[in-house]
Amino acid sequence: MTTKDRIKILILDDEKQFTEELHGFFKDSDFESFEANSAAEGRKILSIVEIDLLILDVRLPGVSGLDILKEVKVQYPSMEVIIISAHGDMDTVIKAIRLGAFDYLRKPFRFLDIQIAIERTQKYLQLQRKLKQMEEKNSLISKTLEERIDRKLIGVSPQIREVFDQAIIAANYPDANVLITGESGTGKENIARIIHFSSLRKDHLFCAVNSSAITETLLESEFFGHKKGSFTGAITDKMGFFEVCNQGTLFLDEIADMPLNLQAKILRAAEEKVITRVGDTSPIRTDFRIISATNQEINNRVDSRTFRLDLLHRLNTLHIHIPALRERPEDIKPLLLHFVDVYATKFNKPAIQVSDEVVETLLSYDFPGNVRELRNMTERAIILCKTNTLGVGDFPVVHQKVEAPVQNGEPVNLKTLEINMIRKALQNCKYNLQIAADSLGIHRDALSRKMKKYNINLTVNQD
Ligand SMILES: Nc1ncnc2c1ncn2[C@@H]1O[C@H](COP(=O)(O)OP(=O)(O)OP(=O)(O)O)[C@@H](O)[C@H]1O
Ligand SMILES: [Mg+2]
Repeated sequence: MTTKDRIKILILDDEKQFTEELHGFFKDSDFESFEANSAAEGRKILSIVEIDLLILDVRLPGVSGLDILKEVKVQYPSMEVIIISAHGDMDTVIKAIRLGAFDYLRKPFRFLDIQIAIERTQKYLQLQRKLKQMEEKNSLISKTLEERIDRKLIGVSPQIREVFDQAIIAANYPDANVLITGESGTGKENIARIIHFSSLRKDHLFCAVNSSAITETLLESEFFGHKKGSFTGAITDKMGFFEVCNQGTLFLDEIADMPLNLQAKILRAAEEKVITRVGDTSPIRTDFRIISATNQEINNRVDSRTFRLDLLHRLNTLHIHIPALRERPEDIKPLLLHFVDVYATKFNKPAIQVSDEVVETLLSYDFPGNVRELRNMTERAIILCKTNTLGVGDFPVVHQKVEAPVQNGEPVNLKTLEINMIRKALQNCKYNLQIAADSLGIHRDALSRKMKKYNINLTVNQD
C-alpha cells in the first residue's frame, strides 16, 4: 500500500440518500470520503480536510453549483472536480468543463461509471503529485509544509470524527471559549489552530501562550502589557497578549500550571473583555476568544484548590476531549500514511511503501507520546530507511517493546513463564503446596489445577 494511491473525496449533493450510498461505496473501495448536503457544510469540510477530489452536484438548492466550482478552483487549485448534472443539461456541463471541472457524470449513473471516472482522476492526480514533488525539490518548501501539517486532522475513528464535529461547532461560535483536554501529543494545539482558522477570527492572530514557560514576575506584563517606566526594564509601552490578539484567538496552553494570582486576573479579563496595562489606568477594550488546553486532570486541581472553579467554568463553555491514540487504533494507519507522505516529500524521497507488518506492529504499541510520538518515529524512519519500503526494523522502539520477552536467549510466552514460576516456587519451599501457593499469591486449589494442566509433578524434581 502507498499513501500516494489513496485519495480523499468530498461528495457534495443535497440528496442525503445519494451521498450516503456513494460514501458507502467509497468506503468499500478503500477511498477516504466525506459527505456534505449543503454548500455551507461542504465549505467547512474543505477548510479543514485537504480534499483531492470533489464530486459536485451542480444543482444545489439556493446556490449555483457553477459558482461553487469557480470558488473552489480559486481556493483549492490542486483539487479536481467531477460534476454531476441532470440528463440533457449539456450547457451546464460545457460551462463547468470550461471552469476547470475534470469530468462529469449524468444522473442516474452506475457505481461502475463513477469508479472509472475516479480512476481516471486518480491517475491524473498521481502525475500532478509527481510533478509537484519535482518542482518542490531543492525549494524552500519544508517550512510551508510544516505549517500545513499542523492544520490537518487525520483520522477515521468515531472518536476523532466526534472531535472533528465538535471543532466545527466551536468554529461556528467564535465567541465561545473552548477547553481542550487530552494526553500529551494527542493534538490539542492542532485542534485549537483548526478551530481558529475555520472561524470568523481566522484573519486575525492566533496567539499561543504557555503560561508555565513564563517567569512569574513577567506574567502580568506579558498578558496585560505595560506602560513605559512602570518597572525596571519597561523601556517602552508594550501590548500584552490580550491586546495583541484583539479579534483573534488566545490559546492558553497548560492552563493547569497557571499561578493562582494570574488566574484571578485572567478571569476578570475574560469576563469583561477590558484590560489595563501594568502601570497605566486607562482601560482598553479588546475582543478575543480563549481556547485553553491541558493534559492534567483539571478537576483534581480544582479539588486541591490550585485551580479556580469559576475560571474553569468561564473557560469550558465548550469542552473537547481528544482520546489517547491507543484508544482509537483505527487512526494509526491513516496517520502513519500521512506522516510518511509528508516526510517523504520533505526529504525528497521517492514514493515510500509501508509493509503491512509495520501497521500490525504499531497497532500493538501503546504510544505513550500519542500522535507526536508516531510522527517523530515516522520522520526518523523516513530519514534512516535504506530502501523504498519501511519495515518493522525501521521502527526500533516499537519493535523492541512488542517483541516477546527473552529468557536465557530463548523467547518465552506467558505459559512458559507460569510453568517456570510454579516450579521455582515449589523448589523454594521443598514442594510444600500451601507455602508455594501463598508465595505465588494464588489459592492452593488454583495451584493444584495449574500443576495438573501443565503436568507438573509434586514430588519429582522437574529439572
Ligand atoms: N489527528 C491529527 N492529524 C494530523 N496531525 C496530528 C493529529 N493529532 C496530532 N497531530 C500532530 O501531532 C503533533 C502533536 O500535536 P499537538 O502539538 O497539537 O499536541 P498537544 O496535545 O498540544 O501536545 P502537548 O500536550 O504535549 O502540548 C503535531 O505535529 C500535530 O500536528
Ligand atoms: Mg500542545
